[in-house]
Amino acid sequence: MKIVAFDPRRHKRAGFACGHDDLDEYLRRYASQSLRNHLARVYVAEDGDAQVLGYYTLSAASLGRDELPESLAHRLPKYPVPAVLIGRMASDHRARESGLRVGSRLLIHALKQSLHAAGTIGVQCVIVDSKPDAVAFYRRFGFIPLTGDGLNLYLPISTIERLDAHDE
Ligand SMILES: CC(C)(COP(=O)(O)OP(=O)(O)OC[C@H]1O[C@@H](n2cnc3c(N)ncnc32)[C@H](O)[C@@H]1OP(=O)(O)O)[C@@H](O)C(=O)NCCC(=O)NCCS
Repeated sequence: MKIVAFDPRRHKRAGFACGHDDLDEYLRRYASQSLRNHLARVYVAEDGDAQVLGYYTLSAASLGRDELPESLAHRLPKYPVPAVLIGRMASDHRARESGLRVGSRLLIHALKQSLHAAGTIGVQCVIVDSKPDAVAFYRRFGFIPLTGDGLNLYLPISTIERLDAHDE
């Protein structure tokens, strides 16, 4: 399994099924438009046959100070903070059942890509828009819920830097 930039001409995705129709449909119908319109970068986990096993999207975003829990907000200025958004992430249910750990590998890839971006432009944190049943998945990786419905979570880039340094 490899994680590469999504190539709409090459990647097979007709049968992709993660359990959420909107995420399946996005990959089939809208991911290539998002790329064309520079709304997101899309990365896929592919098998040796260019079949998509999982994917995620990354976009630039900003986070209002009032969305942060007070314990984090007090250290930051009053204007919005720059962020990288993981807008969507999904693994195919068959890949999940084979224990390939596609989700973890995609998430680690997304954090490394965010760190890479943070070397070029200011990025204070990575945020995710989660489905209700995936919040626990992100929390395992240290994401902290933002204020609101609990479906938006936050990971400071400083935490990712520390994890990355620890890895080397
Ligand atoms: C959430 C999702 C991306 C995780 O991908 P995955 O391929 O199952 O992830 P992994 O196999 O790498 O799992 C890593 C660990 O997280 C756990 N995990 C997986 N999904 C979880 C969830 N929803 N809640 C809590 N833990 C979860 C696994 O059991 C595994 O635990 P272990 O380390 O003890 O073995 C995948 O389940 C999915 O596509 N779900 C449907 C779409 C979705 O909800 N997307 C996320 C929001 S946009």
